Amino acid sequence: MNIWELHPAFVHFPLAFLFSSTLLEFVARSRRKEGLSRVAVGLLAAGVISAPIAALGGLVAFFTAPVPTDEAHVRMIIHGVLAALATAAYALTLALRWKNQGEPASKGALSLSVLGALLLGATGAVGGYLVYQDGVGMEPTVPRFVDPN
Ligand code: HEM
Repeated sequence: MNIWELHPAFVHFPLAFLFSSTLLEFVARSRRKEGLSRVAVGLLAAGVISAPIAALGGLVAFFTAPVPTDEAHVRMIIHGVLAALATAAYALTLALRWKNQGEPASKGALSLSVLGALLLGATGAVGGYLVYQDGVGMEPTVPRFVDPN
């Protein structure tokens, strides 16, 4: 296993925790269930803790993974900035939600959570593009295209 492969191994945790948290906040709000609100905030906390760990793996990948083109390098930076913005939006949501965990999320907290989800979605989309379209992290010894001629 290459060291830049640690990042894709970690990213699923914040992605799953944070998206689930946003979804559950809506369900908890519509059903007025205190238990669901507490679980949503728990998932949010787990996501905010695991996101910097995944981001650290991303930084390691940024400096170590083979990058085939300059465009891919720019996309890597865009991906990192989107990840930082998504994490900041969710961290702010957590700060708003921490003291009233049993209550439904306010409109402000809910909007921030949705903004975090949109930014996280964009982060994941660019991340996927980096790997499956740009070929970031592919060993240069592996031929990427087969010339039929
Ligand atoms: C919340 C934080 C982050 C999330 C959720 C995230 C998510 C992802 C995802 C889903 C992929 C595609 C993995 C695959 O399908 O194999 C990816 C790839 C990548 N990400 Fe991130 N990322 C985060 C932070 C960062 C940061 C801060 C950087 C640094 C610039 C970074 C750099 C990379 C690189 C270089 C790749 C392609 C190579 C590799 O997978 O190791 N990521 N990321």
